[in-house]
Amino acid sequence: MTATAFFIPSLNLMGAGCLKQAVESMRSYGFRKALIVTDGGLVKAGLAAKVSGLLAEQDIQSVVFDGVQPNPSCANVNAGLALLKENNCDVVVSLGGGSPHDCAKGIALVAVNGGKIQDYEGVDKSAKPQLPLVAINTTAGTASEMTRFCIITDESRHIKMAIVDKHTTPILSVNDPETMAGMPKSLTAATGMDALTHAVEAYVSTIATPITDACALKAVSLIAGFLRRAVENGQDMEAREQMAYAQFLAGMAFNNASLGYVHAMAHQLGGFYDLPHGVCNAVLLPHVQAYNAEVAGARLADVALALGEKEATAEAAIRAIKRLAADVGIPAGLAELGVKEADIPTLADNALKDACGLTNPRVATHEEICGIFRAAL
Ligand SMILES: [Fe+2]
Repeated sequence: MTATAFFIPSLNLMGAGCLKQAVESMRSYGFRKALIVTDGGLVKAGLAAKVSGLLAEQDIQSVVFDGVQPNPSCANVNAGLALLKENNCDVVVSLGGGSPHDCAKGIALVAVNGGKIQDYEGVDKSAKPQLPLVAINTTAGTASEMTRFCIITDESRHIKMAIVDKHTTPILSVNDPETMAGMPKSLTAATGMDALTHAVEAYVSTIATPITDACALKAVSLIAGFLRRAVENGQDMEAREQMAYAQFLAGMAFNNASLGYVHAMAHQLGGFYDLPHGVCNAVLLPHVQAYNAEVAGARLADVALALGEKEATAEAAIRAIKRLAADVGIPAGLAELGVKEADIPTLADNALKDACGLTNPRVATHEEICGIFRAAL
């Protein structure tokens, strides 16, 4: 038996109204000035001002960096880092879905370790823990608010860099469903399917453990039970809360069992065409699992049952995943998203270099990855 590790932030707050409690708990850390990393939409929605106000009540000053783009880039990290240094911030607060958390991790990691974010591509490349990061989640979700995964687009190479580093783990994660109620349908659907992908990839991963299995299967059943409801009516707070738990459980699973080819391939689509992460995963998930079924049939049969299917087979799991994706409005194929057949060999090249693919249960050749991309077109 090989030794395994389990990574998770030391404090994780969940449930309606926990945002206020989270900011109150920050006082005891002795922080003086926070860099709030977010995007323009959340500034417009008044959420950044709300967090600034709550911090001020705890005598913590703050400055807002709202320059995070979807699929955050090295330039975004550099701009945030400059603002952090200018203001001598001693804590970073990320506010948003995956992109602000990932960008904030990049900023906080380079702030302490120096150099540039590209230096940390790969697994555990940094020497020291990042600046303390408090991650307030507004989607359900990438689970980036509680993972050691940081995905940054290197715009010069048109690829997404996977930075997997224990030092990027936030110290405090916040999942308050009240901050998620404003998510539009399409974002609820895409982020929910991302969470499903995390759970399924972690469950069939070569380094899954009994702990990650329990988290993954519970996540799958919650998503099967509540994602349609959350998409249908964003104000359905029970569905929002259950999806917040589901994405967190899926995060616990993949933060420790890692992922597979769905993410390795989706990262390339995101980096190449600037497509939304969750949508790329949702389209690729059934195709990659159809490829995996040869070696992971028993595991996918468990997924079928967790999805509520009567038939415990890989085929039933794949059918149920496709049905859920269609029900929440995910496009049927990659061609609809503008993916070009001619780009597939390059995309496959880069997918095989992505660290997330290392734990996929079946090892693919370049030609096989191309085949999965073509099947998903
Ligand atoms: Fe993901």
